[in-house]
Amino acid sequence: MSLTGFAPVAYLGLDIGTQGLKAVVVTDSGHVLFETSAIYPTAVPTPGWAEQSPGDWMAALDSVLGQVDQAGLSVTWAGIGVTGQMHTVVVCDDRGQPLRPAILWSDQRAREYGPAWEAKYGLKWLREQTGNKPLSNFSLGYLRWIRDHEWTVYQQIRHVAIAKDWVRFVLTGAWGTEMTDASGTYLLDVAHRHWATDWMREMGMDPSWWGTLHESGDVVGTMQYGPSRFRGLPVVAGAGDQAASAIGTQLTPGELGISLGTSGVLFWPLRQYVNPPHPSIHVFCHAVADEWHWMTVTQSAASSLRWFRDQFYADTPYAIVDREAEIVPAGCSGVIFVPYLEGERAPVMQPQASGVFFGLRAYHGRTHLARAVLEGVAYSLNDCYQTMFGREAPKPQRLVMTGGGARSVLWTQILADVLGEPLEIVEDPGAAVGAAWIAHSAVDATQERWPRASIRTAIPGANAAYYQTEFHRYRRLTRVLSDVWESSAEALSADS
Ligand code: XUL
Repeated sequence: MSLTGFAPVAYLGLDIGTQGLKAVVVTDSGHVLFETSAIYPTAVPTPGWAEQSPGDWMAALDSVLGQVDQAGLSVTWAGIGVTGQMHTVVVCDDRGQPLRPAILWSDQRAREYGPAWEAKYGLKWLREQTGNKPLSNFSLGYLRWIRDHEWTVYQQIRHVAIAKDWVRFVLTGAWGTEMTDASGTYLLDVAHRHWATDWMREMGMDPSWWGTLHESGDVVGTMQYGPSRFRGLPVVAGAGDQAASAIGTQLTPGELGISLGTSGVLFWPLRQYVNPPHPSIHVFCHAVADEWHWMTVTQSAASSLRWFRDQFYADTPYAIVDREAEIVPAGCSGVIFVPYLEGERAPVMQPQASGVFFGLRAYHGRTHLARAVLEGVAYSLNDCYQTMFGREAPKPQRLVMTGGGARSVLWTQILADVLGEPLEIVEDPGAAVGAAWIAHSAVDATQERWPRASIRTAIPGANAAYYQTEFHRYRRLTRVLSDVWESSAEALSADS
């Protein structure tokens, strides 16, 4: 650790998350000295919509900066990094004032646009422009929705920002975004790391709205906001929460990150741009300059268990639910749970998909369903894994697991069995620590990673072979259901 006097050098990481804003103070050797957070609400003006007020982000920012300031840490401050929810978009006037609430990454109002673009331009052309298949969560859909439904607002737009880029504008006065969040707008030519100008023109979007397009480690300005001890510190462009979390976990190419959080995410860092083998695999720029990553998302992972616990085991700790589920034999006597409670992203890319308990008999009780939820999420993650690493593709050297669900020994064992691979379960420092590392690497011109704390390993056990067969039943079921969801969506749009 480098020392200035006796005070360690420290970096501030800020994460503008979905539930709240988190701040961490990390030394230049990766030790977390302090952390705090402040929550804010999400409004649901119409079912399927989700909005937050940038004013609430500001209140949370003031609160966490105040708390870090008052902690009076004896450190030498060296820099600030920001991260946050991806895709969430803020539209602003010429002074940077939001013209309406931010539209969140989980909002489904723009789901008609992707299929319409695919029909008009063809998926092949769209993937040539952006690398990806359009998805209802990508920011471009929200901008088009504002254009189609709030024309007066749209006409006043002079700046557009992703959540953390807007907060960074408040901190520094500098407008800009960076490669990871730009990837999630559906306006970036991900392979070449510049705006997809033909596509932008086609969509009537002005590249100047986004300000400067940075790499994550670029210093975009200095801190002009908040308590005096932070003023003048260099602020880096930062990264979206998924890339920042991968940095926080110190994932390197060859390692697959598996996060079993609210959603389940598989994150595969790449040294070169590689077209993904399936359109439900996102290919995005990484927070490391000139690196990329693939990512698949199962929308409702730990949130499926939360939903199930709240409905069927109200006020029961997860450990008790686990204990009951453990007694049920693998395969739950025929019950399969499909965890598509909030639609699905991969490999079934259907916002209209829904959750299903299949194979119910009169002798099944809630314990069977509890285990089926754990197994269903594991099948869904395996479905993503198989889609990413088909038979020919090189397999990861290591599977590194984080997220709240990784605390469950039963769940991680089921996942190791279903995947048929050992899982290294590590401490989850979170995206804010990744943002602090990005600031550290920029200020100290270092790529040296901080140490990773391994907790335990889950090894495939006696149920592994059985789960391979069960997984094929699950897969068949989801593909049949996929046709049903597709035809009901067509029927709905024909009716309207
Ligand atoms: C990534 C994604 C979420 C959000 C919210 O594509 O949609 O991870 O970043 O955390």
